[in-house]
Amino acid sequence: MKSILEFQKKKQLNIPISMVTCYDYWSAQIVQETNIDAVLVGDSAAMVMHGYETTINADVNMMLYHISAVRKGIGDKLLVADFPFLAHRKGKKFAMNVVDDFMKCGANAIKIEGAGSTIKLIKYIVESGVPVMGHLGLTPQSVNSLGGFTLQGVNKNSSEKILNDAKELEDAGCFSIVLEMIPAKVAKLITNNLSVPTIGIGAGKYTSGQILVLQDLLGFTKNFNPRFLRKYMEGYDLVKNALNKYDKDVKQKNFPSAKESY
Ligand code: KIV
Ligand code: NA
Repeated sequence: MKSILEFQKKKQLNIPISMVTCYDYWSAQIVQETNIDAVLVGDSAAMVMHGYETTINADVNMMLYHISAVRKGIGDKLLVADFPFLAHRKGKKFAMNVVDDFMKCGANAIKIEGAGSTIKLIKYIVESGVPVMGHLGLTPQSVNSLGGFTLQGVNKNSSEKILNDAKELEDAGCFSIVLEMIPAKVAKLITNNLSVPTIGIGAGKYTSGQILVLQDLLGFTKNFNPRFLRKYMEGYDLVKNALNKYDKDVKQKNFPSAKESY
């Protein structure tokens, strides 16, 4: 899809929205040729692409490099970009400069974790003509407060809090809300109570759409095997075997051949 208007339309027509994360030019080129609806340049780039243990290490510059690389390969598919750790908590001026840089680098929308005292800023960004996607449930930038990457919304209080936050985000103008790691029945209740589409990860089948980390679904993150993840390829071993074939060919002097030489 090319614009956020299609998000709304898909929810109305009950057509699921598919999203993946994307961090670089070469994978963006491939995603561009698929039927995937939209991409997220996630701050998970800090973990997947840079080897950090949490998303706390993502910063504005890291995000900008990834946004501009993805933009060059993704064609006119909708590109949502993550506000990194604390970028929305350093005052309005700082935040608006980040929005400015993200949009000039090629983002079509931004995503911000949490609600509460961030709602005011989200409203201001939306009123500035920049679409905002919300993110509730497991908000990985708060991993130290949450005590780990664990299921959220498991009791009545916490699930009601997520529902109320979701309504506040919708009222603030968010065009869509990511629901991460919450029980399917909680995600269903939230989705039914909103007019904007929800995008789930580890949130069951009743959300308006799904998102997975590209490298996770392609099987490149070997030691990451949560229950919610379906792997569509054994990428890790495929690449490893291809590299070992190349290594063997070089060492046995089978590469290059005469045909591959000048
Ligand atoms: O950064 C990320 O990959 C995300 C998705 C999991 C929603 O925020
Ligand atoms: Na993220």
